[in-house]
Amino acid sequence: MQDINKLESELLEEIGNARDLDALEAVRISAMGKKGRVSLMMRGLGQMAPEERKEIAPKLNQLKKVIGDAIDNAKAELNRAAMEARLASERVDVTLPVRPENKGRIHPISQVTDEIIEIFADMGFSIAEGPDIEDDFHNFTALNIPPEHPARQMHDTFYLPQKEDGSRQLLRTHTSSVQIRTMENKQPPHRIVVPGRTYRSDSDQTHTPMFNQIEGLVIDKTSHMGHLKGVLKEFCRAFFEVDDVEMRFRPSYFPFTEPSAEMDIRCTFAGDHIKIGEGDDWMEILGCGMVNPKVLAHCGIDPNEYQGFAWGMGIDRIAMLKYGIPDLRAFFDCDLRWLKHYGFVPLDVPTLGGGLSR
Ligand code: DAH
Repeated sequence: MQDINKLESELLEEIGNARDLDALEAVRISAMGKKGRVSLMMRGLGQMAPEERKEIAPKLNQLKKVIGDAIDNAKAELNRAAMEARLASERVDVTLPVRPENKGRIHPISQVTDEIIEIFADMGFSIAEGPDIEDDFHNFTALNIPPEHPARQMHDTFYLPQKEDGSRQLLRTHTSSVQIRTMENKQPPHRIVVPGRTYRSDSDQTHTPMFNQIEGLVIDKTSHMGHLKGVLKEFCRAFFEVDDVEMRFRPSYFPFTEPSAEMDIRCTFAGDHIKIGEGDDWMEILGCGMVNPKVLAHCGIDPNEYQGFAWGMGIDRIAMLKYGIPDLRAFFDCDLRWLKHYGFVPLDVPTLGGGLSR
């Protein structure tokens, strides 16, 4: 009995002293292993007289249970401590401030283009695009600007080197060429807007050799000048966000429209500031007209059956006006400080429902 009690306290002490799982396992083997101290005692039962065995056996079983439980508890405790130590050492400090992220900006031209597209998309227009490098036919001839026509000189065209067959490609001088490409490739009715880069050999405070236009074209059997006015009025109202914009159509000349007009809107110039929609001044914002029957015929459309209207507008200048940007040339300087100041937040997409202007 005494041996049992002594062994129990010895083993409990050894278990209590085991600092890690390996040490604990060593104690377990030395107690409960095949040749362990508890196991040897159990084996001793066989040599005992029945009376004695009856008395000792329950004690030994009790010892075995006490030691087994103590080892299990110590093991759980060591595991818990190990886990805690690991959590402490692998802790990620989520309170650290995030590293500054270099967010890009949307260029005012892209922003304003998106705003314009949003307005016309709402009226049922789709977007058409065409190549910046054009041929003579699409940029001029099909638009009723034959060779030797003075309008060709007016456009200050950038030409590419002459090809062997004598033809020369050019950088498109307006987005009107995409009217032709659309009418050649698809069946009417047409209702498109065409945003894009255009080029003319021009450079001063209000002209850059590369600039941006947006073209509109409607071709069907019934659209007339009244529809043209209605569409453009709705555009001005939505774009400048004023309830009513007084508009004026001045007779003009473009080879590809007949009749042709330039459209002005009411405004007030006050220094470098401009107020749209009211005042004593007029500002020209686009050219427009009814598509010339000759243009339709160039595209294989019967002018006795179809008719429609078109317009072309510079994007850069109305972007300057709307967002108070003073110098046109800064648009194309690629100065990141400028873009940070005048640019727009990415993904803050203009929508009629969510707000068009920023
Ligand atoms: N293409 C003309 C220009 O660049 C603008 C223009 C005027 C386009 C009248 C049109 C139009 O579609 O009908 O000056």
